[in-house]
Amino acid sequence: MEVNDKVTLVTGGGRGIGRAIALAIAHNGGHVAVNYVKHPETARQTVQEIQSLGRKAIAIEADVADAKEVEEMVNTTVVQLGGVDILVNNAGYYESGNIFNIAEDHWDRMMDVHLKGAFLCSKVVVPHLVEKKSGKIITITSVGGVMALTDLHYCVAKGAQVTFTKSLARSLAPYGITVNAIAPGLVLTDLGSDRILTEEEKSQRGKRLAERGTIPLGRASIPEDIAEAVLFLISHDYVTGETINVTGGWATL
Ligand SMILES: NC(=O)c1ccc[n+]([C@@H]2O[C@H](COP(=O)([O-])OP(=O)(O)OC[C@H]3O[C@@H](n4cnc5c(N)ncnc54)[C@H](OP(=O)(O)O)[C@@H]3O)[C@@H](O)[C@H]2O)c1
Repeated sequence: MEVNDKVTLVTGGGRGIGRAIALAIAHNGGHVAVNYVKHPETARQTVQEIQSLGRKAIAIEADVADAKEVEEMVNTTVVQLGGVDILVNNAGYYESGNIFNIAEDHWDRMMDVHLKGAFLCSKVVVPHLVEKKSGKIITITSVGGVMALTDLHYCVAKGAQVTFTKSLARSLAPYGITVNAIAPGLVLTDLGSDRILTEEEKSQRGKRLAERGTIPLGRASIPEDIAEAVLFLISHDYVTGETINVTGGWATL
């Protein structure tokens, strides 16, 4: 599929990895609906950057774990941008936790945002793709979803996204729709922080993990590394049900 003139909905598209994906798609001629939940200012900045490239973009507030808000978000995308061709399930968050200290409500929220969120967004977008007999669904899972880290609820939610991807790919293949996931390792973003970090703070976090020898390539990645993998999946029609590791070798350990 060509990105050119296609409409992509990127959940959590205002900052971090989602922002890089939204901008990469716009640089390749696509239009983007940029979803956010808490930070309208970064979503609006991303929208302005996309519009300055001559592409259409809108910012839409919605909690991906809320069925009604998701339905309204997809309807707004279709009405304002003329349809939807590609869904990127990127919205998410990280918190540490293990069997000794994860409270039930934290477990539930983790599943709701990552797993139910991907399900709800896909459920509302899929009829639009089936109608056209083409489309792409790409979910941003994690190294934590393909190998065991101790953060139990995060890893289970991200691992479930891998299985979600494989199963959904089988159902949608007859309609010419591909469904894939990308598992990033450590990406320099605000993930796991309750505030927007400075570039210096982000690079310090990356350094600490790299120095521990966790990442064979010896450095964290940047959001654009993940966006490149998204562009690859959009442009390839014979790859489906796969999870591509973009971890600097971390996932091989
Ligand atoms: N950074 C990494 O090292 C890394 C590694 C592996 C996987 N990932 C995955 O990559 C994805 C993006 O993470 P990031 O690193 O870019 O983090 P980030 O900079 O913290 O951005 C997270 C984005 O998700 C949005 N979001 C969170 N909860 C949401 C909800 N309930 N509904 C709608 N949007 C929601 C946020 O919206 P607001 O801006 O409105 O708050 C924000 O745009 C996540 O799924 C994460 O698990 C990240």
